[in-house]
Amino acid sequence: MMKRFPILLTLSLLLCACGGKEPLNIPDPGPYKPLDPADLYPASVFKYGLKDLAKANGVMIGAEFTHGEYTGDDSLRVVLKRDFEAVTFGNEMKHDNIVSNTGSISFVWVDEMVRWAKDCDLKLFGHTLGWHSQQQSDYLQTLIDGAADSKAAAAAVREAHAEFVDKMVEHFDVYAWDVVNEVFSDDGAGSWRSSSNTQANYHVFLWGDYYEGGTKGFVDAAFKEAKEALQKYGKTADLYINDYNLEWNPAKLEALCKYAEGNPDVTGVGSQMHCNTDLSEDAIKNMLTRMVKTGKKVRISELDVPQGSIPTNTQADLIVTIFKLYLDIVPEAQRGGITFWGVSDKNSWLGKGKYPLLYNNAYQRKDSYLKLHAYLLERAGLEKDS
Ligand code: XIL
Repeated sequence: MMKRFPILLTLSLLLCACGGKEPLNIPDPGPYKPLDPADLYPASVFKYGLKDLAKANGVMIGAEFTHGEYTGDDSLRVVLKRDFEAVTFGNEMKHDNIVSNTGSISFVWVDEMVRWAKDCDLKLFGHTLGWHSQQQSDYLQTLIDGAADSKAAAAAVREAHAEFVDKMVEHFDVYAWDVVNEVFSDDGAGSWRSSSNTQANYHVFLWGDYYEGGTKGFVDAAFKEAKEALQKYGKTADLYINDYNLEWNPAKLEALCKYAEGNPDVTGVGSQMHCNTDLSEDAIKNMLTRMVKTGKKVRISELDVPQGSIPTNTQADLIVTIFKLYLDIVPEAQRGGITFWGVSDKNSWLGKGKYPLLYNNAYQRKDSYLKLHAYLLERAGLEKDS
């Protein structure tokens, strides 16, 4: 819990700063312009991008970006196209970005990003079908307030969630979904998250409170709905349960893995890994070993590595260690990939001064990039390419 605090604080501040659950203020992207491939490969010191080297080692590498970053900086497309195989949108597939406060659903903003990602040959990961944060709680509250009694209110909230899942699965072609995100608490006992252990103000916890069996009931329903929607629309995608602090909190790790083992609709377990350079090799090993034991796909879903308190631990070393352990421990058939939560330090959700990513503020490769590139090159047995 202690380790998570600065992240939660940052998140709260960020959310307060942009008005909590207000829709994002996204500028009009204008008409869609296909890319000129010639723009995408400026002179490069390397023959291989990171994605080629990751692929050669049997792992898919991904990155998160937001609409603001995509409209704000052309360098992003150069880097994404060259170095990544998959992307996750930072906010744009979340409930409060898709559903308005009157309950209408709009895909306009996100569709622009989907087309752009397609144009860069990027695969898409869906984040997220169920989360207690960034929900369109004004709309959910309207449903509750308008219901005749608490039974009707619960039915209305459940129906709204089922409809959201159905519409999302119908609309997007993704290789996998985060079906539920952060459903366990930080209490050190692996309890389900509930309104009582969820911070008010920015976490309006409506869904878990309206299911029989509480949060577990919500999670069961979410996976069932996602699976049924995939079948209905003739689609396939992995279905993940995703959470943070799994590397620090063994009870949470155990609770998540146990749940996944008991539910055949879950096909993947995700660990966000918003960590820092203090993280030990043993902690990563234990986490990955337990996740592999579930028999499900194993994904590192939101990796970022700011400096911790031990000055001799470097970001570059820890990132290489994470890739090494992932490749050593997770069998190829179970690899769901590794996604960084951001591209350039300039746009990290952790804010300024953290430098948690592979590229500096000018989208230039940092030491961490160079070391990871060299490690993956050597591990794949390829000849030096620079
Ligand atoms: C973050 C986004 O990166 C920010 O832009 C937004 O303000 C808050 O959410 N865990 C998650 C992600 O699952 O959805 C969060 O993303 C980071 C923590």
